[in-house]
Amino acid sequence: MTEKKQIIVSDSKQDIDNEKKSGNIKKEKTEFKEKDVTLRVFRINGQIDSPKYDEYTVSTKRWTTVLDALLDIKNFKDSSIAIRYSCRMASCGSCGMKINGIPRLACYTKISELSGDTITCEPLPNFPYIRDLVTDFTTFFENHKNMLPYVQNPKADIKPEEKISEFVQSPSDLDKFLQFSYCIKCGLCYSACPTVATDTKFPGPQALAQAYRYTADSRDTDMKNRFNIIDDRHGIWRCHFAGSCSSVCPKGVDPALGIQLLRNHLLGFSKHEKTVAKLKEHSD
Ligand code: SF4
Ligand code: FES
Repeated sequence: MTEKKQIIVSDSKQDIDNEKKSGNIKKEKTEFKEKDVTLRVFRINGQIDSPKYDEYTVSTKRWTTVLDALLDIKNFKDSSIAIRYSCRMASCGSCGMKINGIPRLACYTKISELSGDTITCEPLPNFPYIRDLVTDFTTFFENHKNMLPYVQNPKADIKPEEKISEFVQSPSDLDKFLQFSYCIKCGLCYSACPTVATDTKFPGPQALAQAYRYTADSRDTDMKNRFNIIDDRHGIWRCHFAGSCSSVCPKGVDPALGIQLLRNHLLGFSKHEKTVAKLKEHSD
């Protein structure tokens, strides 16, 4: 892990030479040459009647990401391109776009890892367009909110007059939902989902995976409300397990698995799997 990080962040030729001497850089890592690539950027403002693409040539290095290249264009060639981004480190989930036909995070996609010298950037499908590469996440966030994405448990309220207490959760209880809590709400799974594309009322893989995340949490005691929301003709049964959501997720979440596990809970097959966390009082 540390070795990989060193390789990526080394900037000067001297750094690279030093790392070569120390054996940290493998031969194939040094083979990417600096090169000029063409970025084809989708440009539209409002309704898509006649979408057009603007092309820009950018000089890139081994570590240049698609977001770096777009910001370079924005800073030095055409400031009018609309892009949404914030953290630049695959944490905030705001720079999702379709890159060479696949939903990806622009800040997490290195140009050296894409094939060809032309890179096409388009807005995420399945979202209403706003402008250029920016889409509207209102419905997506509403769907997430509808799943009651928080622990529901009458004992969870800490009252000042009572002793502070905490729920005891075993490592195996945590494992049941941990990967789903890594979701950064980037919407890539939603944009890759063929069911969302055909049924706009379907909550989508992200929201359903979060419904599973809280249902499987041993601190949560109220599954019923979530089940009432998802057990609907536009709900969980609409998923036909294409699996494209899981293949595009940049955080290693497997929403397709979450949906299947949630179905098991809904059908009662998993009713003995969930234990309810006990409260432990602090003695202070
Ligand atoms: S499940 Fe993955 S792809 Fe979907 S919103 Fe969360 S982080 Fe993004
Ligand atoms: S800028 Fe935050 S995820 Fe890409």
